Amino acid sequence: WLAPASALLLGYLLGSIPFGVLLTRIGGAGDLRQIGSGNIGATNVLRTGRKGLAAATLLLDGGKGAAAVLIAEALWPGTGPLAAAAAFFGHLYPVWLRFRGGKGVATLMGIALVLHWPCGLVFAAVWLGLLATLRISSVAGMTAAVSAPVSAALFDRFEIVPLFIALALLVLWKHRENIDRLLSGTEPRIGGARRA
Ligand code: G3P
Repeated sequence: WLAPASALLLGYLLGSIPFGVLLTRIGGAGDLRQIGSGNIGATNVLRTGRKGLAAATLLLDGGKGAAAVLIAEALWPGTGPLAAAAAFFGHLYPVWLRFRGGKGVATLMGIALVLHWPCGLVFAAVWLGLLATLRISSVAGMTAAVSAPVSAALFDRFEIVPLFIALALLVLWKHRENIDRLLSGTEPRIGGARRA
């Protein structure tokens, strides 16, 4: 039981690092939870106007999911998926922020890229494609998340389908305020000042 427990703990600790909040504070751009949607992800960091900080948040939030899987697999072979689930849960529910964490899109992309890279590539393509065309981050993120279990099944990787279904459902659950805004037509676009 020691290996799975260690993988869970490592995953949670890595996943719960709130890079968006930390980088925004270090960068002198204020308290991210008081800005825009109040979310701790890269999309909301972008609303501070600091593109570099947003890009770094995206990379680090994705990187921590990937790192959790890679480190756990190296130390305790076979525990990668457990560490992935724990890292994802840590990002969504970090003890350091009274369990009010992010929505999981970047972290799931990092996880998908290392668990089965073709799924990660499909995820990134869906996400970037929708982001570029629709410019609504929540729609791009939710659709990419749902693509993960679908592409895993299409690639015959059925052993990771249940994990991806669970994580995609959590992504949707965490976007419930975005879904309300989408239904009422008030969800902002990226760079909305120019395009709205
Ligand atoms: O990944 C989060 C994104 O999908 C939505 O973020 O700040 O617009 O709620 P936000």
